[in-house]
Amino acid sequence: MESTRERWSSRSAFLFAVIGSAIGLGNVWRFPYITYENGGGAFLIPYLIALITAGIPLMILEYYVGHFTQSAPPIAFRKIWHRAEWAGWFAILLIFILSTYYCTIMGWCVNYLYYSFDLGWGNTAESVKAFFNNDILQLSSSPSVLGGIRLPIVFGLALVWLWIYLSLFKGVETLGKIVYFTVIIPWLIIVIMVIRGLTLPGAIEGIKFYLTPDFSVLLKPKVWLAAYGQIFFTLSLAMGTLIVYASYLHEESDITVNAFLTSIANCLTSFVAGFAVFSTLGYLAQTLGVSVKDVTTSGIGLAFVTYPMAISLLPVAARFFAALFFLLLLTLGIDSAFSMTEPVVESIVDKWGAKKKYVLPVICVLGFLVGLPFTTRAGLYWIDIADHFITNYGITVVGLLECIIIGYVLGAKKARSYINQVSEMKIGIWWDIFIKFLTPAFLGTSLVFQFVNLIKKGYGGYPIWTTYTGMGLIIFLALTAIILAKRKGAV
Ligand code: PHE
Repeated sequence: MESTRERWSSRSAFLFAVIGSAIGLGNVWRFPYITYENGGGAFLIPYLIALITAGIPLMILEYYVGHFTQSAPPIAFRKIWHRAEWAGWFAILLIFILSTYYCTIMGWCVNYLYYSFDLGWGNTAESVKAFFNNDILQLSSSPSVLGGIRLPIVFGLALVWLWIYLSLFKGVETLGKIVYFTVIIPWLIIVIMVIRGLTLPGAIEGIKFYLTPDFSVLLKPKVWLAAYGQIFFTLSLAMGTLIVYASYLHEESDITVNAFLTSIANCLTSFVAGFAVFSTLGYLAQTLGVSVKDVTTSGIGLAFVTYPMAISLLPVAARFFAALFFLLLLTLGIDSAFSMTEPVVESIVDKWGAKKKYVLPVICVLGFLVGLPFTTRAGLYWIDIADHFITNYGITVVGLLECIIIGYVLGAKKARSYINQVSEMKIGIWWDIFIKFLTPAFLGTSLVFQFVNLIKKGYGGYPIWTTYTGMGLIIFLALTAIILAKRKGAV
């Protein structure tokens, strides 16, 4: 099977694909907001420490797993340890669910792109909020009131899945060409938006707000958790993507330099995108005569409420910049979205020897169908809940399992000598120390800490049964993973 494995046509195709996967919605709305909420400029310190102590070591580990085994996660882990296959399936099931709501958010972007042409959301705080909650989402009163699906969102969702299908069906070689566009176009748009933002009146206040450090937050565990969580999400770690993409590398390809390049490119993009967002928010604050703090809204609201409003108030070409912003989110998101689908498809192909041309459309249709609950009027709540459990518990557990399987069962030293054999840059014993002790110690602590918090308070102020549903989902996925691992495959 090895000899017929698909391959990237060049090193840069691989690099663009992994950078494209890493750079996504997580960089443009999640990063700036998380930074602001966790101490502004000071947050960059835990962020960088998380990058160095968990991000880069785990990325090297995942590239190694894909490169060495030439397989998608389930079979890859099985080749390393015969009992570990389920860990691979667990990652795959998590990423499948993640893809279903990630694409739904992109479905909102499709709708917003459409409304950009007449700035349908208006330019007052009330009208923009009402547009998001009442016109786009028609948000219901609670997670238990589903209220039927929203057809415009379903339409956007269908388009996104079609786009994913069209990007993937020709195989990895064509994918390697598509990613040049899906990486370079958003980069160009970000540059345009940074220039536009920085030349607006009030921009400096926004930037000050973004970068002024508040060092006292460094003592809060919550800030460190946020930094590690953001690093995992933004680098597409512990979800199978990097393993699958690395499995398409030739046997003699480099690992470590690629890992450093990918993570640095991703984190720099986040940092630069922060300037685009906060300079514009500075302008918004000045126009409204309030402080920047008062215009900043949380998470999803930043991209769909605050930022559109700021754009509406631009002195020239507001429609153009509105369309550009949603095009940015879509082109940023699409290569992350297809990097979530490819591992699912490849895992099935790997295990059962099925044909990719049949598996891909089935997974796309299934992804669309599973995403439908997120398009209901309670969809926003369920996206928030699913995201919390998948990114906080799922990713952490998979990261921990990876450290154990490679660090202890296989032996970090053995992995490192393979990595050093193929890589241009050699890594030292520090890597073993991270993989065996520091990274798992952090992940374990984070897991316990979050779990205790969850037991005490439930998640997000929703009724407590939603917390059980979230936990139930994770347990259900873990059990399904065990069943899949037990099934006989073709190899
Ligand atoms: N890194 C992507 C983002 O920042 C999300 C992602 C997570 C993609 C996991 C693939 C796998 O938006």
